[in-house]
Amino acid sequence: MMLLKTVQANGMIETIQPSTGRSNQLGDGNSLVTQDASGIQLIQASDAQAVGTLAAEHVAALLEEKPDASIVFPTGKTPLPMYKTLRHWPHLDWRQTRLFHLDEYVPPPQRPKVLPYETYEQYMRRELWDYIAGSKYFLGHYIHDFAAYEQEILKNDGPDLVILGIGNNGHIAFNEPGSSPDSLCRLIDLAPETIQANFGAEGMQRSGYPRQAVTLGMKTILAAKKILLLATGSGKQGITQQAFDPSTPPNLNCPASWLKQHSNLVVLTDFALCF
Ligand code: PGA
Repeated sequence: MMLLKTVQANGMIETIQPSTGRSNQLGDGNSLVTQDASGIQLIQASDAQAVGTLAAEHVAALLEEKPDASIVFPTGKTPLPMYKTLRHWPHLDWRQTRLFHLDEYVPPPQRPKVLPYETYEQYMRRELWDYIAGSKYFLGHYIHDFAAYEQEILKNDGPDLVILGIGNNGHIAFNEPGSSPDSLCRLIDLAPETIQANFGAEGMQRSGYPRQAVTLGMKTILAAKKILLLATGSGKQGITQQAFDPSTPPNLNCPASWLKQHSNLVVLTDFALCF
């Protein structure tokens, strides 16, 4: 059984040993600090690659336990080390797995011949899905039938695992501030800070860059049996702290804070969180 293995536990400090022995040697002196804030498991790894390896271990453990699991994957910079790890693990059997992703850009009405950005379908193919078997569901193919995408995800008591990043403004997928915990898969206007974060000044000023996206809603994300949230880099520390601070109730201003209501949430960071 491929599971995260606690080889030493001393109060809040655990040393985690890699169960696969492949990839980065997490057990090689990399201490992970775990805390419990309102039932959330917070794990601090040594760096972004260690976060990616740990996340990959969670995926590997699920595939061992339930080969036909449904898994929802994120895009962005944060999960790149996880994808690099997963695509170099040929022992993983994805054949029965059902693979989804969280969101997709909607090109502007005056769509240029060649998009000046990468779609999330292209991203998922490049990072993982072109390397593995499994049934792949691209949200962009369901743009006129969001309910059908959600139904696929919810089949067989899914989703088993949803993996998330967090936006600088607390968004989850493209559930921008103002998104409620009951929100469903839908078209949404991207917040200016999201356009800035993803496309920089060029994306803000030039046409051809998306102003809208489709996103899974918080309700479907919260329906997952397990949620893994990855946050790396000091730029994400403040918003992650704000989202999971147990003294602040979940609220519309920070959609990530709705995740505190989930009973099986693991937050993996490469920075400390203080509660
Ligand atoms: P990032 O994006 O991983 O590129 O920082 C995360 C997000 O916006 O959800």
